[in-house]
Amino acid sequence: MTKKLDGCVALVTGGVRGIGLGAVRALAAQGAKVWMTDLAEVESDAVASALAEVDGTAQYQRLDVTDEASWADAIARVQAEDDRLDILVNNAGIDGTGRIQDMTLDLWRKVQAVNTDGAFLGVKTAFELMNRSGKLREGGAAIVNVSSVMGFVAFPESAAYCASKGAIRTFTKACAVEFAAYDVPIRANSVHPGFVQTPLVDEGFERLVARGMAKSVQTLKDQIADMTPVKRLAHIDEIAKAIVFLVSEDASYMTGSEMVVDGGYLAR
Ligand SMILES: NC(=O)c1ccc[n+]([C@@H]2O[C@H](COP(=O)([O-])OP(=O)(O)OC[C@H]3O[C@@H](n4cnc5c(N)ncnc54)[C@H](O)[C@@H]3O)[C@@H](O)[C@H]2O)c1
Repeated sequence: MTKKLDGCVALVTGGVRGIGLGAVRALAAQGAKVWMTDLAEVESDAVASALAEVDGTAQYQRLDVTDEASWADAIARVQAEDDRLDILVNNAGIDGTGRIQDMTLDLWRKVQAVNTDGAFLGVKTAFELMNRSGKLREGGAAIVNVSSVMGFVAFPESAAYCASKGAIRTFTKACAVEFAAYDVPIRANSVHPGFVQTPLVDEGFERLVARGMAKSVQTLKDQIADMTPVKRLAHIDEIAKAIVFLVSEDASYMTGSEMVVDGGYLAR
């Protein structure tokens, strides 16, 4: 049976856990050859268990998205082994909470470096290979940048994160219109998850509990669920399915768009 992404090569950043791991699994299930990338060392337990979770359907390459040389190494390997890259999912991200007046410039810059610079470096470094690959595929090559509902609205103590996710939202549009203007066969869209059940959320909530701002992680999850029209957090796979749709030919007329996957959070 043919699958939506047969013959495609994909690279996912921040791929060993959370939404990134879900995206790796979903892209591979649709027939793509997937490069799972993340900060973890090749020989680490984190990589072994992530590869086991996707039944060995992906290949791992260490990639620190903030480091231009690391991007160059990763793309050079993809080029050497596959000579094409049809799909890039810029997913790696960190939160970095704190009140604005207390936030160090270092923390602010760290969040922008991972969430914003990381996506810019990915698009820049992968451009030539994706431009070439896009010509080989109906509907072209496709980039998905993982933003957030916080690319539209804010929470207290999330200034650095909100700024980075807003930047990703408009950076994606800049990619889309520039590529279209120069007949580059690469579509670019952003995905905006609401609250998703991932380690990032658990760790962020644990920090809030440690600071005495909530009774427990579960209390915070219940509060978030209450604020969400569908009354629950998202499953990783619900975000991964949106990513697969955007990179597939089903979305061939979509570029520069914002796909919100938030259980109605922004619609209130
Ligand atoms: N979980 C949510 O509720 C939620 C909501 C909206 C948006 N998002 C976004 O989705 C993306 C994934 O989030 P998640 O919840 O799965 O997070 P997560 O913390 O579970 O996973 C993020 C991954 O990114 C990796 N990473 C961090 N810095 C990196 C770097 N410099 N280079 C390469 N990899 C790096 C981490 O090692 C980790 O494996 C992020 O961009 C996040 O902002 C998450």
